[in-house]
Amino acid sequence: AAGDATAVAHPNIALVKYWGKRDEQLVLPWTDSLSMTLDVFPTTTRVRLDPGAGEDTVTLDGTPLEGEPRRRVTAFLDLVRERAGSPLRAVVDTRNTVPTGAGLASSASGFAALATAAGAAYGLGLDATGLSRLARRGSGSASRSVFGGFAIWHAGQPDRGGDPDLGSYAEPVPVPVAALDPALVVAVVDAGPKAVSSREAMRRTVATSPLYRPWAASSQADLTEMQEALRRADLDAVGEVAERNALGMHATMLAARPAVRYLSAATVTVLDAVLELRRAGVSAWATMDAGPNVKVLCRRSEADRVAGVVREAVRGGSVHIAGPGPGARLLDA
Ligand code: DP6
Repeated sequence: AAGDATAVAHPNIALVKYWGKRDEQLVLPWTDSLSMTLDVFPTTTRVRLDPGAGEDTVTLDGTPLEGEPRRRVTAFLDLVRERAGSPLRAVVDTRNTVPTGAGLASSASGFAALATAAGAAYGLGLDATGLSRLARRGSGSASRSVFGGFAIWHAGQPDRGGDPDLGSYAEPVPVPVAALDPALVVAVVDAGPKAVSSREAMRRTVATSPLYRPWAASSQADLTEMQEALRRADLDAVGEVAERNALGMHATMLAARPAVRYLSAATVTVLDAVLELRRAGVSAWATMDAGPNVKVLCRRSEADRVAGVVREAVRGGSVHIAGPGPGARLLDA
């Protein structure tokens, strides 16, 4: 029914990272990024317009959101209302299936699901590109979770004139998925909350890290190489580029003032295990986001073996195997 929509979306893991905004308000990044949407840990969000309400009601797994997380959702709804020309408040009910405290980006699946559900509930009539632009405003990485499989998020041209919002959206990257046979083994090494938010960490990196500009420049070359490696279904080339891009991103943070260090001793233990796997002839490559957890890219056919080795290394943490998943979609009422 109009005014009531439910959507589901999955998280994504970037193989060429988004790190750094050139415009905080519009969530415009400095660089293009490329990711794989996962087939695990979906977020389901229902948005119901409430004509009688004076404010939005936002719950996550049945518990009302407060503070900054709530403010981010209501600011996003304000943007949707402005576009829809509607004053109506909404009831937002989100269900997350990411294991509690797994430290996996739930903002990507969360804002992709919210954009899809709110766009439908408020009748915005957006196509996938429009939804990607909208989801971007909630969280940059959410622009990519609108699409399944592999997706590239275009930074957009800063100096082309016109509306800068229009140029920055994600779109699918055609990849011979069966030939590539990719899996991501997710090693949850630490379930604790992060010391520095990724938003603040990005801001500090761009403002103070002498390594930021060189990384951003090399990331553009990584992207070109990544697209070629994906086209050829060359998993080792994909992994090599993904790993160096992620380590480079973390280097920019380590050089920020003061430093932002997300990688822990447990992270390095898993990185050692990944090196051991490679020495044993297994294609295994690591990537890390704004936290200590490691995602290991490997062949689906070798994922159980990789997961076994990683499980030994993390001891006490949890390990999950993910493949390429679907894009955001509306569920029938
Ligand atoms: C390290 O998309 O969570 O995961 O736009 O501020 O909400 P905001 O940031 P967010 O950052 C994700 C950063 C990353 C790399 C990536 O996903 O590309």
